[in-house]
Amino acid sequence: MSGRKVAVITGANGGLGYAIACRLLDKIPQTVPLTIVVSTRHMRKAVETINKLRKYCPERDLLSFDYVLLDLGSLESVHEVAGQLLERYKHIDYLFLNAGGGDFAGIDWVGATKEVLKNPIDAMTHPKFKKERIGKVSVDGIGWVFQINILANYVLSKRLLPVLSGGGRVIFIGSVEAEIAYPFDEKDMQLIHTDQAYVDSKRELEYVHAAIAQKWKAEQDVLVYMTHPGICHTAIFADHLNWLTTFGMLFLFYVVRWLGSPWHVIDAYKGAAAPVFAAIEAVPEETADPAETVNYGSACDAWGQSYIRRKATGTEEEKKIGDVIVEEMEKLSADALQRINLGETQI
Ligand SMILES: NC(=O)c1ccc[n+]([C@@H]2O[C@H](COP(=O)([O-])OP(=O)(O)OC[C@H]3O[C@@H](n4cnc5c(N)ncnc54)[C@H](OP(=O)(O)O)[C@@H]3O)[C@@H](O)[C@H]2O)c1
Repeated sequence: MSGRKVAVITGANGGLGYAIACRLLDKIPQTVPLTIVVSTRHMRKAVETINKLRKYCPERDLLSFDYVLLDLGSLESVHEVAGQLLERYKHIDYLFLNAGGGDFAGIDWVGATKEVLKNPIDAMTHPKFKKERIGKVSVDGIGWVFQINILANYVLSKRLLPVLSGGGRVIFIGSVEAEIAYPFDEKDMQLIHTDQAYVDSKRELEYVHAAIAQKWKAEQDVLVYMTHPGICHTAIFADHLNWLTTFGMLFLFYVVRWLGSPWHVIDAYKGAAAPVFAAIEAVPEETADPAETVNYGSACDAWGQSYIRRKATGTEEEKKIGDVIVEEMEKLSADALQRINLGETQI
């Protein structure tokens, strides 16, 4: 293995993904050769992101960029990108599975007002007023939110195990909102019928982490970390806000931070603290925080000073549920691969 570090960041074109790239550039010493592989959905975004990152650290010499075009909503795209990365790299050090989102429909303004008046910190941390559409399926015929937030990430990282093996780290991006997920429903594992698929998908991701972290560590020497960015101002809900409501949301973010919320880091760069810490700073043997039993969250104090909060995770119950989801994902992935080989993805 050369001294070059290779980091793949999905959804690197904006929000948290871009902030992860910037933070890596700040944290990894300039003397270490670094390649950042930017994964976006469109070529234009990849080029713009690379240009922006070059301007972010014009003085850095031992730096190169690469890109892949990935749509998590298509397993064909996931397999294609996995193949490209396997061909191009002998080793990947950090795989940030950042891209994701939900099928959001807007805000229940009456509910939002009531929630904020009743308990502002809880309302802005675990909002129940964000409306999600129910039932969207991907081109693969799979629950879309489940696919982009869980299945595609699992398939991509599993395919990349040969080049991650021997010390690579996989970083899952969860959410503090997972704390209000509905109990796991095996009959709706793909989250097609729930009215909060985004929230539930982030909880299912925690189960999957619990199921694979120990196994991949033992079998492949790959550390899989569960992290979350706290709550940051990004484009994730931007389609449903105008300048006034964006201002109102940011105002409330600062208010609840002052009232004691540890999670309103607001700035995506601060949100990137936990994922980047897990990738390059966490020392599982020394901190008694093995990758399989910790969830690192980006937190801050009332003044916005950031720090990392640890939460224990990976219980036996979580592992059991994770095993069920992993088994289902293996089947879905095998079916998709068969379809792709037969050239029948576009239905
Ligand atoms: N913002 C928060 O407070 C917060 C809190 C908890 C967790 N998170 C998580 O942080 C991650 C990044 O979100 P963000 O807040 O930075 O939001 P964002 O600004 O909307 O970024 C989301 C990224 O994911 C990409 N993406 C979305 N759907 C995709 C698909 N089907 N295939 C490939 N890429 C796709 C987007 O690409 P396009 O630009 O092409 O759409 C974009 O690059 C997500 O996993 C989110 O769940 C965010």
